[in-house]
Amino acid sequence: MSQNTLTITDNRTGKSYEIPIKNGTIRALDLRQIKLDENDFGMMTYDPAFTNTASCTSKITFIDGDRGILMYRGYPIEELAEKSTYLETAYLILHGELPTRAQLDDWTWHITHHTFIHESIKKFLDGFHYDAHPMGMLISTVAALSTFYKDAKDIFNADSRRKQTYRLIGKMPTLSAFAYRHSLGMPLVYPDNDLSYTGNFLNMLFKTTEVKYKPNPTLEHALDVLFILHADHEQNCSANAMRSVGSSHVDPYCATAAATAALYGPLHGGANEEVLHMLREIGSVKNVPEYIKHVKAKEKLLMGFGHRVYKNYDPRAKIIKRIAYEVFEVMGRNPLIDIALECERIALEDDYFVSHKLYPNVDFYSGLIYEAMGFPISMFTVLFAIPRTAGWIAQWQELLLDAEQKISRPRQVYLGYDKRSYIPIDHR
Ligand code: CMC
Repeated sequence: MSQNTLTITDNRTGKSYEIPIKNGTIRALDLRQIKLDENDFGMMTYDPAFTNTASCTSKITFIDGDRGILMYRGYPIEELAEKSTYLETAYLILHGELPTRAQLDDWTWHITHHTFIHESIKKFLDGFHYDAHPMGMLISTVAALSTFYKDAKDIFNADSRRKQTYRLIGKMPTLSAFAYRHSLGMPLVYPDNDLSYTGNFLNMLFKTTEVKYKPNPTLEHALDVLFILHADHEQNCSANAMRSVGSSHVDPYCATAAATAALYGPLHGGANEEVLHMLREIGSVKNVPEYIKHVKAKEKLLMGFGHRVYKNYDPRAKIIKRIAYEVFEVMGRNPLIDIALECERIALEDDYFVSHKLYPNVDFYSGLIYEAMGFPISMFTVLFAIPRTAGWIAQWQELLLDAEQKISRPRQVYLGYDKRSYIPIDHR
């Protein structure tokens, strides 16, 4: 008997089955042979929320949640945050290798020259209420891009995928900035090709009457590092949405809209917004113990804490905490940081958090930086969506090129009624 197998004995029938093990997993379909009799459908696994199911093989991002390790294509996040730029990291995530100088120049040129959006999109934005949430506007306008680029449907053509990649990474900041300016009732600012990716984004957000916007280098760099940290995170809720929707072979704009919608939820990218609301609700350092009591009584969540995969300090949160102080030096200290630090201090010593392995995640400190930089809370999740676009496209492309993948279609365990007859309305 091969050592790389799992022997399963079905005690209902007494039969034994030898199931191959590959990469530490067994194939769920191999369980189908386990049957009570010929008419039995066969054994399935039940895994709500995919807590122990690998839905794909991937070579993009590695996470070791117990040791707090995150790597893109084998490069530790700490090194990329220190030495790389967002566009270089996006190239790495999408292409698998760091670019040469010529490749990086070419990549940057193409992204920079795809930042403009069709003027008609401004008309959609006009249809939104002044207080529309920018994530709602972003989801809608990304989906709308699908109607402009018919070539995007040619998803198995590498040239077409490359073109849509330039467009998506180039246009996400423009769509986001336009949504923000719309909500302020301010004139829209067009992209400036002389500026870096994050410098141009700051320009489109914050330019007022100056002829040429000059981004503050500390803020531009801080945002770039934050973008690196948010670029991919393997099979999270939005990446899974991108893959699941993409598996129907829809164009990448519609799939990205679905991924952006998944990110919007408060348990995913929307958590950075919730952290700020929570810190404001706590209001002062002295109120932290009382708040923690409510968390432990399960009346509230400590937003920005906990993670499905990290059972140790999220390595991104460590870097963000350091960057926060760099931003505070330029913009002034965000007073909410003291409340955040006190939450962290108490939580890390408290048995509830220790035993549940709850540590700060990426969203715990990012909102404090964004607020110090002058972003309204409603823009926080947008600041997650822009850099995550590179990761979503990489996940989507990997899916398309994986011969083992098919349209996503989970099974269910039906526990509803057996067959019954329709009851006329007067007899119910
Ligand atoms: N505060 C208090 N208790 C918590 C928290 C929290 N933030 N997170 C988890 N728990 C408890 C939970 O009540 C449960 O306790 P018990 O076992 O006694 O019933 C246990 O820890 C396990 O929690 P879970 O909800 O089953 O874990 P999960 O893997 O399904 O959820 C999570 C992960 C991130 C959704 C969850 O930790 C959470 O809701 N955190 C707050 C929201 C948040 O910060 N989200 C951002 C995630 S990181 C960025 C991203 O990926 O978008």
